[in-house]
Parts: sequence; C-alpha cells; structure tokens
Amino acid sequence: MKFFIDTANLAQIKEAHEMGVLDGVTTNPSLMAKEGITGDENVINHYKAICEITDGDVSAEVISTTFDEMVAEGEALAKLHEQIVVKVPMIKDGVKAIKYFTSKGIRTNCTLVFSAGQALLAAKAGATYVSPFVGRLDDVATDGMQLIEDIRLIYDNYGYETQILAASVRHPMHIIQCAKIGADVITAPLSAIAALLKHPLTDNGLAQFLADHAKAAGK
Ligand code: G3P
Repeated sequence: MKFFIDTANLAQIKEAHEMGVLDGVTTNPSLMAKEGITGDENVINHYKAICEITDGDVSAEVISTTFDEMVAEGEALAKLHEQIVVKVPMIKDGVKAIKYFTSKGIRTNCTLVFSAGQALLAAKAGATYVSPFVGRLDDVATDGMQLIEDIRLIYDNYGYETQILAASVRHPMHIIQCAKIGADVITAPLSAIAALLKHPLTDNGLAQFLADHAKAAGK
C-alpha cells in the first residue's frame, strides 16, 4: 500500500519523506489556503517545491468547474512537473475532463467521491486515482470504510486499473482498515502516519533493553 501525505506544508512533507515511507503528496485548495499559498505564481512555485522534496506523485487540484476551464488549468498544471497528477472534482464536467486528460496521457485523481457509483464513473473515465473521503462519511454517520470495500469489489470485478486512494483519513485505525481491505493508497496527515509507530510495549521494551545493557556493562 502506498502512503501519501495529505498536506501542503513543506516541513511536514520533508519529515514524512525523511522517515523513508513517503510515496507521494495530495493537496487541495483548503490545504493550500491553510499554508497561505495564494496567487498563480506562488501556487506554481509551491507545487514545484513539493515535487523537489518527494519523487512520488503530487496531486494538484483544479479550481475551475467547467470542462474547458478544467482542461486549460489541468494541462498547465501537468506541464509544471512530470510528478503532477491533476486532481479533478467528481462533477459531470469533471468526468468529461478526466476522460479527456486520460486520452492525452495526463494522470488524474478524481476527488470528492462519496459513493460507489461515483467511483465507477471515475474508473470508466480512466482516472489514475479515485479519492473516496472516508472521514467525511464517518462525520455524517455513514461507514466510510464500507465505501472502500465496495469500490475494491467493483474494481476487482472488472479489472479497473484506477487506484483506490483512500482520502480524508484521520487516524491510524483508518490506515490499518484500508490496508486490510486492499486500498491501493492512503493519504493522511503526518500525525496519523506517525501514530502507526507508537506502542507502549515498544517504548517499555526498549527502555528495559537499554537499562539491562547499561547494568551488564557496569554503568
Ligand atoms: O484528501 C482529502 C482530504 O484533504 C480531506 O480531509 O480531513 O478535510 O476531510 P478532511
């Protein structure tokens, strides 16, 4: 399973990269705004800076919502760097734009997916990735993980190559459940990825090993 970090924060991207487990980065307009990145030039430079940290895929989201505008914006984003994947919302013009980008060899991430039907459309349009939002479904008392299972079943039934990129992942159990189901990728905040490290028995065990070693060495 690939690990993407879901942030536009360069320090956190570096930290995840230095852990050695980072396969890519996803961003969205809210995450870019959170880092104070506004204006075309700053946005472009920020995507380039992210591509310099990781050698994995970097999702850059279009802001426009009509086919012609999404095509123009997506083509410009794709030209920035070979690692850029154009992130397109699951709307009618978005599906059409994904189909167009696929025909031009431009990779896409279909975002804001909340149902199996939407995921089926994204795969039929040839999306490279589909992003079902697990946490936001959980927020409205709907089982986000069930959606990952449903999409896995549907994609496997027909051999769709679109990769399931579980998004809106909020905590380590989401990551583990995604791995059990067979999501291809998770994108999560650094806190959720780092939380996989922690176990009190590891900390206690290490403290004991070091104490025993020091005692035996007469320290
Ligand atoms: O990748 C989508 C993600 O950024 C949404 O996460 O936590 O805002 O639902 P969240």
